[in-house]
Amino acid sequence: MALASSSSLQLAFIFILLAGLRTLALDKYTAAVYEHAVIQPEVTGKPVSPEEALKLMNQNMDILEDAIQKAAKQGAHIIVTPEDAIYGFNFTRETIYPYLEDIPDPQVNWIPCTDPERFGSTPVQKRLSCLARSNSIYVVANMGDKKNCHYIDPKCPRDGRYQYNTNVVFDSEGKLVARYHKFNLFKVERQFDFPKEPELATFDTAFGKFGLFTCFDILFHDPAVTLVTQLSVDTMLFPTAWMNVLPHLTAIEFHSAWAMGMRANVLAANTHNPMFNMTGSGIYTPSGSEAYHYDAESMNGHLLVAEIYSHPSHFPTPLPPVNWSSYATTVEGFPENHTFSGFIFHDDFTLSTLGKKADNLTVCQKSLCCHLNYRMMEQQEDELYVLGAFDGLHEVEGQYYLQICTLLKCGSTNLQSCGQATTTAESYFDFYSLSGTFGTNYVFPEVLLSGIRLAPGLFQVLKDGQLVSQNDIPQSVLTVTLFGRWYEKDPPHIQNKVESTIQQLSCLILLLFQSVLGII
Ligand SMILES: *[C@@H]1O[C@H](CO)[C@@H](O)[C@H](O)[C@H]1NC(C)=O
Ligand SMILES: *[C@@H]1O[C@H](CO)[C@@H](O)[C@H](O)[C@H]1NC(C)=O
Ligand SMILES: *[C@@H]1O[C@H](CO)[C@@H](O)[C@H](O)[C@H]1NC(C)=O
Ligand SMILES: *[C@@H]1O[C@H](CO)[C@@H](O)[C@H](O)[C@H]1NC(C)=O
Ligand SMILES: *[C@@H]1O[C@H](CO)[C@@H](O)[C@H](O)[C@H]1NC(C)=O
Repeated sequence: MALASSSSLQLAFIFILLAGLRTLALDKYTAAVYEHAVIQPEVTGKPVSPEEALKLMNQNMDILEDAIQKAAKQGAHIIVTPEDAIYGFNFTRETIYPYLEDIPDPQVNWIPCTDPERFGSTPVQKRLSCLARSNSIYVVANMGDKKNCHYIDPKCPRDGRYQYNTNVVFDSEGKLVARYHKFNLFKVERQFDFPKEPELATFDTAFGKFGLFTCFDILFHDPAVTLVTQLSVDTMLFPTAWMNVLPHLTAIEFHSAWAMGMRANVLAANTHNPMFNMTGSGIYTPSGSEAYHYDAESMNGHLLVAEIYSHPSHFPTPLPPVNWSSYATTVEGFPENHTFSGFIFHDDFTLSTLGKKADNLTVCQKSLCCHLNYRMMEQQEDELYVLGAFDGLHEVEGQYYLQICTLLKCGSTNLQSCGQATTTAESYFDFYSLSGTFGTNYVFPEVLLSGIRLAPGLFQVLKDGQLVSQNDIPQSVLTVTLFGRWYEKDPPHIQNKVESTIQQLSCLILLLFQSVLGII
């Protein structure tokens, strides 16, 4: 008897505790991202001493400290800082080495701020931990990890160690709660190794479940997509050093589209370096962008702070599933219009021009047909728009299979200029509806307006897969795009170990840029 009543008492207690925990969980929270203008080391071609390396890293962390304090004062629960923000880029395996620390598995339950000697010399982790602890805020940073290995491990590099491009997270007490080693290294990141298997790094908070990946990872299935589809991550923490590529792979455009397509929040912090076309950070949600920053002119960093839903796929209302091919496959196919071919970021698109003020157009390539219904308020005589379709393997700077439907402003009125970078438009669209017969469920909806601006609230995706304008506000469109990724058709993940004399820059470095330098 006594036993039974004591256990029912315990049960009641547990119920009360659970109810209490449930009210502690937050529907919304405040997120911050900081676009940081990294102070580059003067020398990256020769190794420096550990003291010199730490001095440079502290200069960058002084600036990050200021941003972290400001974010905390504005009530932010978490702040994300960019890839390479602490030491910059353009390293070799040897020259990055003095900047690396051994970062333990978070399971060790460690607060570097209060126990700095536990894992040897770890001044960067200690400082980041103390910044999190003294400001009571989660801090997400990108740094370098080193792990000794032995020749009996056949994958062990010749210098006897693995070096990883790594994201770390310290909670508001300063405890190391997550560590993620970048899997999809950009091909020039030869200073780093990637882990044998993609890592699914997540952690739980009262304001949702968080997951981590880095820069080029966003173009691939693992770990990015798996974090959402299998682990139900609410918010992605995304440090990046992203080099903008018009018309489809500008940071703000693609990262916000990924958040919409995956129905997750993305906190994207980009390195700020206008000389390398690196700018564009944001706080993105399934309905678009809560806050974003794009600044190709100044040399300054920038802090963004915004309140967002903790569980965006079912708050404020559950999002219905989208069938990306439903409208396009059921609509009576319009006869295909006169087409020509044009290259957009090295991919051979099938294109057709928009010749009227209002029209229905269809363009097909392989199994993908793209439909556009549009109405323009006015088309400037010196501006040319096309509808384009691409269904194939992209093979420059990484191999990944694409299905793309795009409405696009050309560089000039010359047909050869379609796909060239253009940043302004003066023609206004009253209405557009774009759809395609996609073979994949992973489609990312992009709208980019004149001046490299996003269009939050000015378009939506319908359940039947149409990307349509809304609110009847005329839009000066650079591009309206359904960017589909057919992951099943990707070649397997391979290690690119070919030695190269190409300078080692991070992430999306363009052939274009290399030709500017005269390397290729
Ligand atoms: C990269 O480092 C090399 C020396 O290793 C230097 O000559 C070059 O100017 C650097 N490039 C950039 C873009 O900083
Ligand atoms: C999407 O819609 C198309 C056309 O109505 C249909 O054939 C297809 O089975 C649907 N796909 C899914 C996953 O429901
Ligand atoms: C495209 O084809 C449709 C249907 O045949 C036609 O109504 C429209 O005028 C054509 N547009 C162009 C630009 O040729
Ligand atoms: C385009 O097609 C839709 C649906 O078939 C039709 O309602 C609309 O009038 C057409 N628009 C033009 C400009 O032909
Ligand atoms: C930056 O972008 C502009 C316009 O898109 C392009 O002309 C330029 O070559 C790019 N610069 C680099 C370094 O890639």
